[in-house]
Amino acid sequence: MKNHLVLVENQVRPGVALLRLNRPKELNALNLELMAELRDALQALDQDPTVRVMVLTGNDKAFAAGADIHQMSDKSAIDMLRIDQFSTWEQIRRLKKPLIAAVSGFVLGGGHELVMHCDMVIASESTRIGQPEIMLGIMPGAGGTQRLTRQIGKIAAMEMVLTGKPIGAGRAYELGLVNKVVPVEIYLEEALKLAAEIAEKAPLAVRLAKEAVLKAQDFGLSEGLEFERKNFYLLFATQDQKEGMDAFVNKRPPSFQGQ
Ligand code: HXC
Repeated sequence: MKNHLVLVENQVRPGVALLRLNRPKELNALNLELMAELRDALQALDQDPTVRVMVLTGNDKAFAAGADIHQMSDKSAIDMLRIDQFSTWEQIRRLKKPLIAAVSGFVLGGGHELVMHCDMVIASESTRIGQPEIMLGIMPGAGGTQRLTRQIGKIAAMEMVLTGKPIGAGRAYELGLVNKVVPVEIYLEEALKLAAEIAEKAPLAVRLAKEAVLKAQDFGLSEGLEFERKNFYLLFATQDQKEGMDAFVNKRPPSFQGQ
């Protein structure tokens, strides 16, 4: 059976694909098989010209309760090194198209690190976000000390990582970990709405803008500004730039083709 750990639905809105983590009994614990399927599905959608934005979700009870502890419990350091699971995560980080997370319930450990690989996050009011690795005698390994600290600052990251205590949706919003908190009945709908709005924009501009925003996490300011400027100039080579500006001048809505 193909893709049974990740369910994929294309064109849930024009230009929008939905991926659903599908290990509900294990609270969507991220085993290696699920992560490989997720990577393959995301890469295929990233290449699919009918898709402009992707939405990743779990279920109301759990987005994902972390990496699969049963799969890791007897591993040695060398086993972990050989398995090299982070190359899969790295491939997810390199997706060109926007990836929006729609989360609810448990968003823990690797589950939260996966969310931090996404570009925006819509959360339900019942969301609990945490980095509980410390309780298991380990620490975060897929960005939970680095991306988290860049996103929320040292003292808040230190509290989450060293205590392992999860935070609620309201606190996650205050800290800038999620874009919006809505009732559980509508978090997926809200994420799809956001995705559909971005899917109407010029795809090449979206792609280069995403790339430039992500560089801000890696580069210093002057390198980042130089990178931004080059992407900005490049967009003047697209038909969509001519279309967008012509539409403005002639007071009509633009129609972007991704050219
Ligand atoms: C494997 C897991 C799991 C996990 C839950 N399950 N989380 N299996 N790995 N991370 C399984 C349980 O074994 C159980 O299966 C079923 O899901 C339901 O879980 P319960 O514990 O019975 O549910 P509940 O009492 O509601 O508690 C929910 C919970 C708890 C608070 C989320 O399950 C929990 O603390 N889970 C672990 C969270 C965690 O430590 N995550 C970090 C993992 S390390 P059975 O068959 O027993 O009924 C990590 C490192 C990432 O993520 C490194 C980068 C990849």
